[in-house]
Amino acid sequence: MGKIHGDLSELVGNTPILDLRRIRAARRVLSRILVKIEYLNPAGSVKDRTAWSIIREAERSGQLKPGDLLVDITSGNTGIGLAAIAASRGYRTKFYLRDVISRDKINILRQFGAEVVLIENEKFLVPDALNDILQTIRNENPGAFFTDQRENPANPLIHLETTGPEIWRDTDGDVDILVGTVGTGGTISGAGRFLKQQKPGVHVVVAEPTPESVPTLDNPDAEAIEGVHKVTEVEESHLPGTYDSTVVDEVIAVTTAEAQKTALAVAREEGILVGTSSGAALAVALVLAARPENADKTIVVIVPDSGERYLSTLKTQG
Ligand SMILES: Cc1ncc(COP(=O)(O)O)c(C=O)c1O
Repeated sequence: MGKIHGDLSELVGNTPILDLRRIRAARRVLSRILVKIEYLNPAGSVKDRTAWSIIREAERSGQLKPGDLLVDITSGNTGIGLAAIAASRGYRTKFYLRDVISRDKINILRQFGAEVVLIENEKFLVPDALNDILQTIRNENPGAFFTDQRENPANPLIHLETTGPEIWRDTDGDVDILVGTVGTGGTISGAGRFLKQQKPGVHVVVAEPTPESVPTLDNPDAEAIEGVHKVTEVEESHLPGTYDSTVVDEVIAVTTAEAQKTALAVAREEGILVGTSSGAALAVALVLAARPENADKTIVVIVPDSGERYLSTLKTQG
């Protein structure tokens, strides 16, 4: 039966899950490692879900009218999702990004018609920087709709409504461990909560950057994993409201180099080109899969975006 979609938002979600059989065989891994390939969303990342949910909820509550301006601060992917869905519904977009974000993401945003404002990365490194920058954004754009991905409940909600249920459906409930990274925490909090509601024993694990993989005032040139933050040793008041720490059972730290190495391995051994945050989550999945107690368990790893978004920033291709 034929099927033609009339609205871009209908293409969001229902991404496929792939079993990494060659990685498993080559490393004699005892657990089954499945990846949920979120770069197959229409604008290329897991953030298309968040973007659609934020716009849908704002439309439902009457906060948006045609031609309105949407603004946010983003590490790229949320902006790209918002820019694409906004373009398809007649809204304008403007995003504030750190100037270290990959050129690929900036060019994609502009291609969708978004206005891009780059902020020096150093400005983000001083204490309370985010609140000051958010205030500036609000002052500079009176009347704009601030999508607020770090606090907007529509963000984790869509993962509770779609990402989690899709994993449950496609694995027939055969899932023991969920691994993801945290930018806003929306994905892991929503999907993790849903899976725990179905099966309370599901172990939810976050891959976070090691301290030396996070730029600081003392180490501003540290190569970060784009879009991904540390959640341990961060004051509760500085964590995004969309991150629910009660859903998370364990946090494992990964260096940017390990994340890149793992991304390269899955490209070469499985034919899937993933971004660095996916590499971080996959590196953690391999750590979990090496634990004897996880033999024969199923690990689902969220692959947020594609390696194509970072090709211009790659220093080495091994
Ligand atoms: C590349 C990348 N990976 C992972 C994430 C994490 O997603 P979430 O914000 O749902 O925690 C983000 C978020 O910005 C991202 O940009």
